[in-house]
Amino acid sequence: MSEGADLKKRRFLTATTAVIGAVGAVGVAVPFLKSWNPSTRAKAAGAPVEADISKMEPGQLIRVKWRGKPVWVVRRTEKNLEDMKTLDDKLADPASDLPQQPEYAKNAHRSRKPEYLIAVGICTHLGCSPTFRPEVAPADLGPDWLGGFYCACHGSRFDLAGRVYKGVPAPTNLVIPPYQFISDNLLLIGQDGGAA
Ligand code: FES
Repeated sequence: MSEGADLKKRRFLTATTAVIGAVGAVGVAVPFLKSWNPSTRAKAAGAPVEADISKMEPGQLIRVKWRGKPVWVVRRTEKNLEDMKTLDDKLADPASDLPQQPEYAKNAHRSRKPEYLIAVGICTHLGCSPTFRPEVAPADLGPDWLGGFYCACHGSRFDLAGRVYKGVPAPTNLVIPPYQFISDNLLLIGQDGGAA
């Protein structure tokens, strides 16, 4: 090997060692960072999250992130609740017979309180996030539409209780997560005190 080539090789080895050293240092640092920040780790693992619903207007939806998933909270109007009662024969599982919800949400409104829907905002077909479409009879969804969620990926439709319509790709109702009301204005999503 010429002297020049030998020098180049030595420089290369020095640089490689420096990179390995840096990677090793990061590898050591990460466990410390994790232990300094347990709440982030706990959230990723599924710790419950709070949602303040004190400012929600009737007809409004807010989004909360739980276990990395979107969770919707919808404050339904009286009219929404009346309209939902007329839909049973258009829905695939109107009585929520499939286990897509805790026991306390196996009712006509799929929730603890009729006014509030809490649902995981992920389509049960292939996992897109449907769009909140609360308006009645919009041109693109047709005259029978009474408000709900529309999944643009393949056209699945859900009512304002997250119940899936018949004849769409999604096979089941939207998932209702475990939750509880800590007070009238505060929800805890991801934990229901064992009431499920
Ligand atoms: S993912 Fe929603 S219809 Fe296919």
